Amino acid sequence: MKIRVEPESSGKKDGYDIIIDAGIIGGNPAGKTVSLLNSAGINLKAGFLAVTTKTVHGLYGDKFSAFLKKCGIENFDFIVLPDGESTKSLKYLSDIHDRLIDKRMERSDYIIAFGGGVIGDLAGFAAATYLRGINFIQVPTTLLADVDSSVGGKTGIDHPKGKNLIGSFYQPKAVLIDVDMLKTLDKRELANGFAEVIKYGAALDADFFKYLESNYKKILTYDEESLIHIIERSCSIKADIVNKDEKESGLRSVLNFGHSLGHAVETLYNYENIKHGEAIAVGMVFAAKLSKHLGLCGEEDVNRIKNLIINSGLPADIPDFTPEQYINAMKLDKKVADKQIKFVLIKRIGTFEFKMLDFGLIYDYLTKLTKLKTP
Ligand SMILES: NC(=O)c1ccc[n+]([C@@H]2O[C@H](COP(=O)([O-])OP(=O)(O)OC[C@H]3O[C@@H](n4cnc5c(N)ncnc54)[C@H](O)[C@@H]3O)[C@@H](O)[C@H]2O)c1
Repeated sequence: MKIRVEPESSGKKDGYDIIIDAGIIGGNPAGKTVSLLNSAGINLKAGFLAVTTKTVHGLYGDKFSAFLKKCGIENFDFIVLPDGESTKSLKYLSDIHDRLIDKRMERSDYIIAFGGGVIGDLAGFAAATYLRGINFIQVPTTLLADVDSSVGGKTGIDHPKGKNLIGSFYQPKAVLIDVDMLKTLDKRELANGFAEVIKYGAALDADFFKYLESNYKKILTYDEESLIHIIERSCSIKADIVNKDEKESGLRSVLNFGHSLGHAVETLYNYENIKHGEAIAVGMVFAAKLSKHLGLCGEEDVNRIKNLIINSGLPADIPDFTPEQYINAMKLDKKVADKQIKFVLIKRIGTFEFKMLDFGLIYDYLTKLTKLKTP
């Protein structure tokens, strides 16, 4: 299955394909793979640097090398970085730049992001900044990266004062999603990616949300067919939005459903002991409750979102930080203007609404929720 991303803002000239299949890396015959890369316009005679982590390299390094050779790619190398969010930093960005310079790589060469969202964001930003932009291919290996971070061109690194504070929009030349690689992902990581899938259903597609309610058990036990289905649907929804609003001047911020509080949760945890999708899960339940509090959606909508999140093994309750801590962390959000923040709320499952909300209102509601939690 192929999904085309063609942002209107760049006159469709920066369009690229998302290719989704099982066996792209290990199982497909050489001819099929080469034709996939040729049709994506990849120059197989160029130089390639695959950026990856220790875990992914250990599991798939040999297979990936064999895949590249099978495609006729001879000039390639790996840079293997530590696992974890702290790799999305200036230090490792600089390590990638050093390697690119040592190898004298040119603009017509390629960086491959071979890993989860951390590697995709970091390698993408390295590609955006080296020689003012070198070719870049996404080969995501986590569910989160398959359905979200590998598509749409947001790249960047974290700053000690906040997440994703340094970055750019930079589109890849192709995204290759091999569902087979999800089999080695642990259950917590699978659920982590599933949170972003729930986001698409909850904010944008009621039928898809219903499908997730009926099929979450199959999905979370690695059923290939349902995994392919949710990846295809999620990528289609995301591609559609990115095509209309590549640089997030309006519509694209709907993809931040659950992220305003979610990012604050990640910041308060110092990006440790909580995963991005888990923080977003907490944020989505909060956004749904806030939507009900403001008279936008009903109790049933809130309960359906909360139940799907809990049934998927994701956290739903806001962690025990004070309302002041949440508000201070939220003020670092990029969607903050003056004393207000742009919040994505829902009118019902599958239908969203943007609202600028005063921090005072959010503070009061957080205080109310905190009191309800106290026995
Ligand atoms: N650019 C965007 O639009 C966007 C969207 C959402 C999230 N993000 C970013 O994505 C990041 C989170 O990504 P993530 O959840 O993929 O985390 P991650 O990249 O840290 O990967 C999670 C862990 O799984 C391991 N792993 C990866 N593939 C594996 C496989 N196939 N089998 C076994 N283990 C494997 C990794 O080595 C890592 O230890 C965050 O930094 C977040 O900000 C970016």
